[in-house]
Amino acid sequence: MVISEEARAAIDGEIARYPRKRGALLPALHLVQKELGHLSPEATREVAEIFELRPVEVMEVISFYNMFHARAGGRHHVYVCTNLPCSLRGARGLLKSLEAHLGIEAGETTSDGRITLDHEECLGACGYAPMLRVDETYHEDLDEARAKEILDALE
Ligand code: FES
Repeated sequence: MVISEEARAAIDGEIARYPRKRGALLPALHLVQKELGHLSPEATREVAEIFELRPVEVMEVISFYNMFHARAGGRHHVYVCTNLPCSLRGARGLLKSLEAHLGIEAGETTSDGRITLDHEECLGACGYAPMLRVDETYHEDLDEARAKEILDALE
């Protein structure tokens, strides 16, 4: 078992809040990812057992939502939005600048395991472009200097 007793109890608590067990799947995946750092195949199988689903059904949910990670990454996940409105305000140059700053390319993790950098599609903050997401926190209306400061402050 890779999911701890504490996380399992928290998942049971979430399940009790919903009329149908499956309603608690997203909160459960957040709990497991918070505990393990990512949603490994073993963790996915265990979540599927808890929810009486097939593992592929849980995988479908994990792969649909970009806040879930099926593979291990850095302690922080940094996503630069490179969709059109952000790109019109310099997001692609911002991403290139952060790649150079960290010494990695999008999709890679720094050698100290601190940051996984990637790009993603619209995060729904187009009015504040360009923007990026660090884990679950949005940073908006950025320039390169501010974005580097944000990354440098990550532990
Ligand atoms: Fe970047 Fe929408 S295009 S947040």
